[in-house]
Amino acid sequence: MPNPFEEAAAKGLGAVKAVKGAIQGLHGVFNTLVQQHGEVSALLSRASVSDDSQKRLELWSKIRTELLSHEKGELEVLYPAYREYEELRYYADAHEKEAEQLAALIGDLDAIETGAAEWKEKLEELILTVKAHVEDEETRFFPEAAEIFSREQSAELDQKFKANKEAIAANVAH
Ligand SMILES: [Fe+2]
Repeated sequence: MPNPFEEAAAKGLGAVKAVKGAIQGLHGVFNTLVQQHGEVSALLSRASVSDDSQKRLELWSKIRTELLSHEKGELEVLYPAYREYEELRYYADAHEKEAEQLAALIGDLDAIETGAAEWKEKLEELILTVKAHVEDEETRFFPEAAEIFSREQSAELDQKFKANKEAIAANVAH
């Protein structure tokens, strides 16, 4: 069972990040994505400090669902919109590479028993990769696009992204 405190802490970090994003001029879908970065980062930190294999397994199940549905939603909804603007295409390509890296690491972690020392090493690698993804998106990919996309466009993308992510999350095998 997910620990309600951890769920609340993850949501809390997500909410704090969303407010920060809005202050930085982000809007619509970008705020949703920043919020999810905060939530998954909090879950990753919890997994990183846990030595209990069962606890790790519970957290991992949630983390992989969150990461896979977030990335797929970005690939299917957000970045195709970037490709409509010449000046944003580079970011769509860069993100595709990051998404491949993340998917490979998630596959690696799935194949390792959560009680193994190797699992923790891989998790740390994933944490660094997620940090790099978050940094790239929040400091460059999102602010650049937030200046080009209208608020209406990013609100529409937000609706599409949320519906898409929910559908994917429901289909991600636990
Ligand atoms: Fe992201």
